[in-house]
Amino acid sequence: MLTRRHFLLAALAVPSCRRHRHGSAHAHDAGPHAHGAGHAGVGPAASAAPAAPPKPPLHPDALARFVDPLFVPEIQRPIESRPDPGRPGVQIPYYRIAMRETEVRVHRDLPPTRMWSYGGTVPGPTLEVRSGRGAFIEWQNDLPGEHFLPIDHNICGAGTDVPDVRTIVHVHGARVPPESDGYPEHWYGSGQSKVVHYPNRQDATMLWYHDHAMGIERLNHYAGMFGLYFVRDDAEDRLGLPKGAREVPLVLCDRLFAADGQLVYPTSGLPGAPWVSEINGDAHLVNGRLFPYFDVAPALYRFRMVNASNGRVYYLSLSNGKPLVQIGTDQGLLRAPVPLPSLPLAPAERADLLIDFSELAGETVLLKSQTLQLLQFRVGKGAGAPKKAAALPRALRPIARIDRKTAVKTRTMTLNEYMDPKTHTMLMLLNGKHWHEPVTETPLAGTVEIWELVNLTEDTHPIHLHLVRFQLLERQPFDADDYQYLGKMRYTGEPAPPGPGEDGWKDTVRADPGMVTRIIVRFEGYTGRYVWHCHNLEHAANEMMRPFEVVAG
Ligand code: C2O
Ligand code: CU
Ligand code: CU
Repeated sequence: MLTRRHFLLAALAVPSCRRHRHGSAHAHDAGPHAHGAGHAGVGPAASAAPAAPPKPPLHPDALARFVDPLFVPEIQRPIESRPDPGRPGVQIPYYRIAMRETEVRVHRDLPPTRMWSYGGTVPGPTLEVRSGRGAFIEWQNDLPGEHFLPIDHNICGAGTDVPDVRTIVHVHGARVPPESDGYPEHWYGSGQSKVVHYPNRQDATMLWYHDHAMGIERLNHYAGMFGLYFVRDDAEDRLGLPKGAREVPLVLCDRLFAADGQLVYPTSGLPGAPWVSEINGDAHLVNGRLFPYFDVAPALYRFRMVNASNGRVYYLSLSNGKPLVQIGTDQGLLRAPVPLPSLPLAPAERADLLIDFSELAGETVLLKSQTLQLLQFRVGKGAGAPKKAAALPRALRPIARIDRKTAVKTRTMTLNEYMDPKTHTMLMLLNGKHWHEPVTETPLAGTVEIWELVNLTEDTHPIHLHLVRFQLLERQPFDADDYQYLGKMRYTGEPAPPGPGEDGWKDTVRADPGMVTRIIVRFEGYTGRYVWHCHNLEHAANEMMRPFEVVAG
């Protein structure tokens, strides 16, 4: 993973967070970057503690497959209703969800796994709201006072001056005022709670909620802190898509386990600096279970998928060679269904899919990612004569393209991997800037901007903007060496339009290596301070995350 690209940024004018927050005393123990793949270097959390011997790893491939039924999270019920703050006289639902430690049986042949959860299950309970009708959620932090995963106190915002266990919930993709968005620094500790108002003024789609606490988001998330949030609307209802038992959420994520069934979060092996740049789990959970099966009728089903991995990209397909029919993306329905032989899904991206089992009575089909087997569908026999393929809707929802002529500004932003010359620590940065530097992206409310993401690294970075939905314009190949060494942009090919599955409303986009990825965004809804970041959570922590501020025009 150490490549020439890590050394390329010019010296930074502003000291890094780790130095200015913690002084230079920490610099000496941050050695060269080590890539934490697999089980190498599994170690203890505390910087001063002696290294515990690593536990033997679990080899998931040795486990029996498809012996556990798919878990489907419960729909959360409101506990009461309260007046809508914006519309007196209107009552809106009030939910309470407690974050707490729990035990999850991820597989029949494994002991229960300690996890952190919303409401005691992983994924947490599913919220279902109506577009235009607000909701309150009280997020109660009932977690233990100590973390069970390895905190790196050098990481921005995770110093020894703050409690180890901190949480703040973000509803990913929600159009909410800044105080409801879960700003990473607005965390709170165990025993505290926060009531958050969600106006839900946006189109039907599947959002998801997850922890966003500064400096430990990747750990809280790895521990199990995520769940789903459906926005429904009339336009979606009119399509008559499969619902109830035939609309099923699928939350995918990779993890590493020890042979005793406990989660392993890999560490660098460097004393006092456990952060790793990437997680590559060999256990692939679907709704928190390993190799589950799911009984379906010979009928049309709708699957709502999210990739909740810290860093892995999935490439989904069916074992019978039939295409997946994608009908929606992060921020709602596509214009029309698109059949895809393979569907890439990067961290935080969502896909709304139809799978037609009508002609498959009595068969089994696997959901795969390349050669990985994720989930087995068992199609029931059904009664009567064999069924014909289900009819699919022809049109879903009109999506007007944002005209690039309406953009008032184009921002060119680099995605960097950076080796600090003094500390020999690797950082990932957006536009060469650290989290604590002054806000540089200050779009005017109501205006349209084009953001060009210039990827100077050799990784794909799923880039996410809070508050907004956007459209992918194109990706264009360029010469990264010319850009970095000679300071000039030389394109090496024509811009490629979005693939059919990403040609809709997005909130997270894959910025591929060697590409300039252009998105077009209207900054609307609310003014105030939000964040944009890479949704590879190890990257975001160190420090591929920046504030942006929508300012009143
Ligand atoms: Cu999934 Cu900053 O969010
Ligand atoms: Cu988000
Ligand atoms: Cu990244």
